[in-house]
Amino acid sequence: MNDNKIITRRKFLQIGGVSTAGFFVPRYLFGSGCDDTTPDFLGPFWEEDAPYRTVLASSAEPGHRLIISGKVTANDCQTPIPNTIVDVWHANDAGCYGIFENCETGNPEDDEYNLRGRVISGLNGEYVFETIKPGFYAVGPDIYRPSHIHLMITPIAGDSIITQLYFEGDDYIDTDPGSSNPNAINRIIPLQETESGLLGVFNIILDIDPSDKMINGFYPVGPARLSNYHNRLLPEGLWLFPPYPNPFNSSTNIKIELDRSTTVLLSVFDLKGQWINTLVKRRLHSGEHSIRWDGKNSSGIDVPTGEYIVILQTPAGRKVSKLTVLR
Ligand SMILES: [Fe+2]
Repeated sequence: MNDNKIITRRKFLQIGGVSTAGFFVPRYLFGSGCDDTTPDFLGPFWEEDAPYRTVLASSAEPGHRLIISGKVTANDCQTPIPNTIVDVWHANDAGCYGIFENCETGNPEDDEYNLRGRVISGLNGEYVFETIKPGFYAVGPDIYRPSHIHLMITPIAGDSIITQLYFEGDDYIDTDPGSSNPNAINRIIPLQETESGLLGVFNIILDIDPSDKMINGFYPVGPARLSNYHNRLLPEGLWLFPPYPNPFNSSTNIKIELDRSTTVLLSVFDLKGQWINTLVKRRLHSGEHSIRWDGKNSSGIDVPTGEYIVILQTPAGRKVSKLTVLR
């Protein structure tokens, strides 16, 4: 991210005035161009290991249903970045955060990770999650945070972006330090009222040069379906257990379990998103399978010390695990 993209509101208005006089103004300064997604503060309520799922709120959770979708792309705003983990957390309808606060309302299914979850962008970069619209909350006497959703966005290649999403028309946007920052301009989105709830689109633009970090070796996966609370991006009936041993030197075993016969793709990537090897690419019967990886890439060469990502993919969904090679 370039520092010159962060400008004060006053500067923003001045530049806007100049543009009407006919001077050239870079498109990004208007906030509607192809800008990298900007960061925002983490806040105190993030919790690790949120479940992989598309629907974060029980159908009985109080609040307006909200569906956020978008595309994760490289910095050209076009090249899709699949397999990006979008970790989402937010307050309930009354502005209360589960895990950290005792919420008097909501969470009818007593879900430990209520209103939290991780989704993964598909082959076309698209992601979607369904939840309820968070409420505003007080952070001091007469000081309120607007309705917002926290996001931690982690591509296979590159660092996480921690940011927040706001909604147009919120009374508290102009006074909140996060949402009133000019760099939040692309993160204040309109919501459209529909029969299935409020719909919002938030495209995530990563500072990734599309020419040097392509990710290969995946079957296309259809868009995540939204039907009920248990229809998760990572479905029931598909298990990827932590590899053992881990870390490992010469070889490790990756145990998977399937509740039905299905086509399986089991692949290894490095943290730069480069495809390393495919361990399984065929139909497997239901039950347990132990798959050995000898720590070699597809050319039969030992991979160097480092962290690697194992992705189990079936037509129904996928699971992700990490492992470490020590030479
Ligand atoms: Fe928050």
